[in-house]
Amino acid sequence: MRKKVTIIGAGFVGSTCAHWIASKELADVVLVDIAEGIPQGKGLDLLQAGPIEGFDIQITGTNGYEETADSDVVVLTSGAPRKPGMTREDLLAINADITASNIEKVAKTSPNATIIIVNNPMDTMAYLAYKVSGFPKNRVMGQGGILDAGRYRTFIAKEAGVSVEDVQAMLMGGHGDEMVPLPSFTTISGIPVTQFISPERLAEIVERTKKGGGEIVGLLKTGSAYYAPAAATVQMVEAILKDKKRVVPVSAYLEGEYGVSGIHFGVPVLLGAGGVERILEVPLTESETALMKKSVELVTGSIAALPEKYRSL
Ligand code: LAC
Repeated sequence: MRKKVTIIGAGFVGSTCAHWIASKELADVVLVDIAEGIPQGKGLDLLQAGPIEGFDIQITGTNGYEETADSDVVVLTSGAPRKPGMTREDLLAINADITASNIEKVAKTSPNATIIIVNNPMDTMAYLAYKVSGFPKNRVMGQGGILDAGRYRTFIAKEAGVSVEDVQAMLMGGHGDEMVPLPSFTTISGIPVTQFISPERLAEIVERTKKGGGEIVGLLKTGSAYYAPAAATVQMVEAILKDKKRVVPVSAYLEGEYGVSGIHFGVPVLLGAGGVERILEVPLTESETALMKKSVELVTGSIAALPEKYRSL
């Protein structure tokens, strides 16, 4: 039987996820949105690209949850995006309600699904989804690290004049401007990045990466990034559906790893059919540890700012 992926939110991120899942023929897709006609229209349009592009999957657009039943993976993208000048945290109250109400329905209709949270503030929304769903922690995670690493790898490749494919990077931390790039785990085909790029330029690249989402919001003015966020999400979907055991940064629920407990936070994980199958603890330098602590404080503060009804879950 074919796998089934539900994407909640048929906006730019959601529909671009559907596009890539379709072109990679990963699974049948159910696109859900509250806007009448939008998921149906986009779903039908994408379906009609199948004969031309040569992908053979079912794509269903709907305003309800019936068609989503027994999904293998559920991706939550719905929520308000940032406008210029807003931080991801400014979206907290509105997106908390959207996340909670959708995840309640997911838990009922797809009790065995793995949930990937994309809406912002992502780490907090992943935590909320974990609490609302009641699912085991390995099956509720947030997407952020692969996107941040994608931005970092892009800038490094350009600076060093090498293929993006040869740049490997690991990042940690919340998906915010306080993310923690790990230069000691950044290589170009295994060669330390510092052999290609000076520490000063690397520091500038790190700064640009941290504000990478905001840079795009500033350019688009009416929304936030979607190609790279969707690509990052689909890499996670693929790792889960194909049990690939990818080693990637994912926002996972921590219970003592890195000395942190009770929050979702970006860490290197092993991602496979079991979702977050393992959290990998890597040794951090003193400065990386200091940056991480700051990022933990921000995510902890964001979770504490959730409306009361969610904090007691
Ligand atoms: C970004 C948003 C989607 O980083 O969080 O572009």
